[in-house]
Amino acid sequence: MELSQSQTKLVLDVNGKFICNAAVYNGHNYCAFENLAKRLDEYRKSFPVQDGDIYLLNYPKSGTHWMWEILMMLTHGSAASRPEHKHEMMLEIGFDSSAQESKGRRIINTHLLYEDMPPDILNNSRGKIIQVHRNPADIAVSFYHHTKSGVNGTALAYDWDDYISKLFWDKERMISSTWSVYTCDWWTRCHGNSNYLPVFYEELKEDPVKVIREIAKFLEVEAEQELLEQIAAETSIEKMKVSKREKEVEELGDSFVEGYTMYRKGVVGDWRNHFTEEQHEQFMKHYNQELRNHPELHQKFIKSLQF
Ligand code: A3P
Repeated sequence: MELSQSQTKLVLDVNGKFICNAAVYNGHNYCAFENLAKRLDEYRKSFPVQDGDIYLLNYPKSGTHWMWEILMMLTHGSAASRPEHKHEMMLEIGFDSSAQESKGRRIINTHLLYEDMPPDILNNSRGKIIQVHRNPADIAVSFYHHTKSGVNGTALAYDWDDYISKLFWDKERMISSTWSVYTCDWWTRCHGNSNYLPVFYEELKEDPVKVIREIAKFLEVEAEQELLEQIAAETSIEKMKVSKREKEVEELGDSFVEGYTMYRKGVVGDWRNHFTEEQHEQFMKHYNQELRNHPELHQKFIKSLQF
């Protein structure tokens, strides 16, 4: 699935240190998948939307695999894990004809910025958008481990100190731009729309049954209390670490790296095991600045960002 060198950009820092491989679209870095730009050009001309489509649109490391599993269970009315792969419906990888023709509700997922999305998807008023937001400190830690593992090619040459002080707010180098650019833009454009449901990772962790019930209502899917509880139990991080293991190895194929998993810790506040006090102070300075026009978002995360 990796791009050939000619189609990939090696993202380097000013000293030539390796950061990651990326496929570039419209000046933005995305995961390095084959023919990404050509495919997105086609999707942006025309995309075969369906009425019941669900669009799962997340910044990387926000819990996309987790939400995918919940949505698959809800839309199939069962807490049994499904055989389909999330990647089969990921825009960056390729939305092939079997995915395009699949019956039932399709859970199309992507890390694209708003401006790079196929307009047909954004204009599909009968589709539903779900977006998981996660506090940026845990995103930083999760993304660091992901990039450092080398799961998408060569491993990041930075250590944590460089990553958090130099890279995390760097629009030119991060995949899907920075967390704040991505999050603020989507929020500005979609918050308040009746077909947009923002879900907060921290709230889903705290009370999964309540949040899954809200998702079911938004999707107009019938789900009794018993099913909601079963889905919450089956999609706990402990369960998914085991239930998804085999599929994950299969899904990653050649990119698989021993010791790496998409189901790493799955907790709120792992950042406290990584940040020094000074890094935290710097981070909060950036964060307060970047979210100055979004008090609602700021408020959502502030509790999970206190040392
Ligand atoms: P950590 O690296 O902090 O553990 P994505 O799927 O968007 O790549 O996000 C990956 C992050 O979601 C990882 O975070 C992963 O552990 C977490 N995650 C995956 N499944 C989860 C679950 N069932 N419950 C909570 N977090 C989960």
